[in-house]
Amino acid sequence: EISFFFPTECTLAVIKPDTSEELREEILGEIRAAGFTISWQKEMVLSREMAEEFYKQHRDKPFFSHLVDYMCRGPCTMLILSKENAVEEWRKMMGPADPSKAKETAPGSLRARFAKDILENTVHGSSSSQHAQEKIQLVFGEISSESQVISTGDDDE
Ligand code: TYD
Repeated sequence: EISFFFPTECTLAVIKPDTSEELREEILGEIRAAGFTISWQKEMVLSREMAEEFYKQHRDKPFFSHLVDYMCRGPCTMLILSKENAVEEWRKMMGPADPSKAKETAPGSLRARFAKDILENTVHGSSSSQHAQEKIQLVFGEISSESQVISTGDDDE
């Protein structure tokens, strides 16, 4: 018997708060259609502490407190996505952080179509494999007791 090995990579994707149920399902559908496997999925409300840790590389930026406010405002859908070249592929699907730039350079991207502005831009994706590992550990490994887990489960059918 021959066995095949398909190299896969994991990334952390987040559907950010204020995304309607309908849009959330649409994004999940597009993720699957693009060939990602949703290895794990959960909805949770981030604590302030966790959101600050999540975006710690932006701690000194003028938009940091607004970013943390937004991320804590409601439930996030946390996803571990796997696919060959997952980090880059998911970043491509998201498009640039600023939707006005996304509309110019990546009109089909999620942010071009759905982001409100550079802050409320609907989705997150890790920028490197190392970041992905760190954030997956933070979100799925060491959940702060203050963060409220709404539901867990693998929704990939
Ligand atoms: P960044 O890491 O630059 O982009 P990406 O989300 O594509 O990795 O920024 C992280 C988040 O910070 C971004 O999704 C939204 C917020 N942000 C602002 O609110 N204002 C800004 O000017 C920038 C650059 C980012």
